[in-house]
Amino acid sequence: MNLRWLLVFAFLLGVFAGNASGRSAARIAPRTYNNDSRYQIEDVLEIEEERPKLEPVVKSNQQESDETTPQGRVSYDGCQLWKTAVDDDDKIRLLVRLRDEEDITMWGGNSSSIDILVKPNSIEKVKTALNQKSINYNIAIEDLQKAIEEENPPLEEDFDNRNGHRLTWQAYHPLEDIYEYIEYLGQTYPDLVTVQTIGSSVRGNPIKVIKISNGQTGNKAIWVDGGIHAREWITPATVTFIVNHLMANYENEPKSIQNVDWYFAPLLNPDGYEYTHKVDRLWRKNRRGYGRCAGIDLNRNFGYRWGGQGSSKNPCAETYGGTGPFSEPETAAIQKFIQEATAKWKAYISFHSYGQYILYPWGYNRVVPPDFQDLEDVGQKVAAAIKSVGGPQYTVGPAGNTLYPAAGGSDDWAKGTMKMKYAYTIELRDNGRYGFVLPANYIQPTAKEALAAVRVIADAVSRL
Ligand code: ARG
Ligand code: ZN
Repeated sequence: MNLRWLLVFAFLLGVFAGNASGRSAARIAPRTYNNDSRYQIEDVLEIEEERPKLEPVVKSNQQESDETTPQGRVSYDGCQLWKTAVDDDDKIRLLVRLRDEEDITMWGGNSSSIDILVKPNSIEKVKTALNQKSINYNIAIEDLQKAIEEENPPLEEDFDNRNGHRLTWQAYHPLEDIYEYIEYLGQTYPDLVTVQTIGSSVRGNPIKVIKISNGQTGNKAIWVDGGIHAREWITPATVTFIVNHLMANYENEPKSIQNVDWYFAPLLNPDGYEYTHKVDRLWRKNRRGYGRCAGIDLNRNFGYRWGGQGSSKNPCAETYGGTGPFSEPETAAIQKFIQEATAKWKAYISFHSYGQYILYPWGYNRVVPPDFQDLEDVGQKVAAAIKSVGGPQYTVGPAGNTLYPAAGGSDDWAKGTMKMKYAYTIELRDNGRYGFVLPANYIQPTAKEALAAVRVIADAVSRL
């Protein structure tokens, strides 16, 4: 039995287990608002974040040192991904304790279900602990290392430069291929495309923006980015797919697409992306510093209500917000570029994975801006468009309410500081069956639905 069928089997087991929590564990996406339990989840998580077990051990100016540089690749041999059904505080508290005791890490989830990565030596301990608290769970991935190895099959020998670049959208490509593609665009479409380097990462990799414009004055501007979180490989693949499609069909695109100044930034965290290819597939943050406590969560480093709920002061945490707003060269480059561009900014679309959500501000708390109904309406149209191109259900809502409050996100800054009307974070596929380790054959269907999403937002912008 191959992995795929094992997973289907594990999935069905959960769905047909016959009890309510088993069902919700298996199908986390479409769900109704349940504010009470969601509020409480974040209270618990936040309290834990406020009292980090580990004190800051990495100074932001730490120099390179062989002792702390990871040797070789991180292996996830024997690690498992479990979907757990958690419907009260007590259950969440147990997961937080298991996390602090380093038996598990948390991937994604919502108020009724959390995906956890269980370390091989902790499987029995976690199993017992969950059973004691009557927490239902099912195994989504039996062997994470195997899933990682099967996610991205090697390309055929003859693929090299078939089209003047290497991207195929049938595989996840290394950093160099993405840079090469960006240069190719500038050279191939000099009348429409301008490539700009807006800054450099901590390790000196350029941060590139692809501007697409028909040069008409009066165009409104839309920003689209991917790859701010390193392990979310589907997002740079998706942003480059969208650019590729728009360029190949530009003449046939509607006015709502042609009369926009587009700014595509496919890879905002190049150091992290490279690190996920070469060392640790599941790295999220940027690459400041060394060791296990390296890195700043770039989506907690933006300047609108920086440092609030859902961002950590502990450098070891996955959600460490840095030493101050825009402390990181990656986010500072975005801030400077967007503020200084002579663009009529109307929309900001940031692609993440996973969970299938269309999120709008605010993210820093469970509150919404005065014009939230406009964002909700367009968000619902986005979800409908995704369905109409054969995509799955995406859940629409304000980020803080729908997912969890998290301050310092790019969407809040785009809306709050830059006053862009339509600011969205779109969490692409999947729903926790593969999570971040989404097999490469999902790139094209996912990117096609993301393109449909971008079209709807461009249409809304054209009506402003
Ligand atoms: N998964 C994203 C993150 O954790 C969600 C961001 C939503 N926006 C926000 N401002 N919290 O970064
Ligand atoms: Zn993300």
